[in-house]
Amino acid sequence: MDSKTPLMFPKWSNRATVGVVLGIVFVPAYVGLLLAYGAHPTTLYVGYAPEQPVPYSHAQHVGKLGLDCRYCHFTVEKSAVAAIPPTEVCMNCHTAILPNTAKLGEVRRSHVEGTPIRWVKVHDLPDYAYFHHAAHVNAGVGCSECHGPVQQMAVVQTVQPLSMAWCLDCHRNPESRLRPRDQVTNMEWRPPEDSAARAALGRSLRDKYHVNPNTDCATCHR
Ligand code: HEC
Ligand code: HEC
Ligand code: HEC
Ligand code: HEC
Ligand code: HEC
Repeated sequence: MDSKTPLMFPKWSNRATVGVVLGIVFVPAYVGLLLAYGAHPTTLYVGYAPEQPVPYSHAQHVGKLGLDCRYCHFTVEKSAVAAIPPTEVCMNCHTAILPNTAKLGEVRRSHVEGTPIRWVKVHDLPDYAYFHHAAHVNAGVGCSECHGPVQQMAVVQTVQPLSMAWCLDCHRNPESRLRPRDQVTNMEWRPPEDSAARAALGRSLRDKYHVNPNTDCATCHR
């Protein structure tokens, strides 16, 4: 550029241009990533059932043997995350039961080497969404409301879309989804058939447990 050419734009505009270009390129990329991440199968796809490193079956251990969810997912009433059981929990039984079966090879390896089994996460919200198990379980929301009939699943699969609309739908109207707290892991629990009795139970549990779910953005985006 000839130094005598009058400047059409002040010098700083060069840097501003860079900023605008960066914005044009990166903002959509960022939004795209956000949407792509949010739409990952673990979040929105119902029926997502990844293959696990061990063919562990809830149908066998819960449906047939009758183990309670909390035997393995022992933090579910106390914390945000429902613990996936460490190998020792499996070995409580499997040092004696089927100690040599091929299907437990990876469990034995983990036990001997002291490194965890790499279970694949099935339900997985995007990082920008916050969930808390204990808040739900202690308010009388049963596992089956969100996870379906796990006691029948040989392989765990998602039965709900885990979308924001799904969360809000219940937060706005939780009554029909509540049960007595001591029934949260009972997969056979059913609300009263009679709709008036059902509504009355929902109202009384809502009062009793002081249930008032938030719909402010900051409840789930913090
Ligand atoms: C003997 C231990 C054991 C018991 C009892 C048990 N689970 Fe699990 N659960 C596991 C293991 C191991 C995994 C990880 C592997 C898998 O996804 O199958 C798991 C995974 C899950 C998942 C998927 C986690 C994810 O990654 O999204 C859900 C949901 C679940 N369990 C719910 C339940 C419910 C509900 C009950 C009671 C009705 C229950 N479990 C009882 C061991 C157990
Ligand atoms: C309370 C005892 C108990 C616990 C705890 C337990 N299991 Fe089992 N498991 C059993 C029984 C009983 C069977 C069925 C044995 C049979 O069919 O004869 C079984 C069967 C299995 C099988 C099928 C094996 C085959 O060859 O058919 C796998 C795989 C398995 N368990 C994995 C696990 C894993 C992984 C854990 C820990 C997350 C676990 N189990 C915890 C009692 C238990
Ligand atoms: C209100 C819905 C809801 C209820 C009720 C619920 N869960 Fe979950 N669960 C979820 C969501 C959502 C996730 C995924 C959380 C994430 O990715 O941050 C999840 C994840 C899990 C996981 C994987 C580990 C984790 O915390 O991310 C296990 C295991 C699990 N749930 C077991 C249970 C059991 C057992 C119960 C009942 C005692 C239960 N859940 C009740 C919605 C629910
Ligand atoms: C089936 C009904 C139901 C569904 C589905 C549900 N919730 Fe909730 N949620 C509740 C109830 C009931 C409470 C307890 C409110 C109370 O104690 O006042 C709660 C509480 C919470 C809390 C704790 C709020 C606080 O103030 O600490 C968070 C966070 C939350 N929910 C997030 C979510 C997210 C994220 C989803 C979707 C992935 C979801 N919830 C789906 C019923 C539900
Ligand atoms: C009860 C929990 C909850 C509340 C309250 C909530 N969100 Fe969300 N939001 C979620 C979950 C879960 C996702 C992830 C869903 C997905 O992956 O599609 C999400 C996703 C989003 C996204 C990503 C794009 C999309 O739609 O997937 C935006 C933007 C968003 N929320 C904004 C908001 C705003 C603004 C508010 C307040 C008006 C709000 N959310 C209140 C649970 C909540």
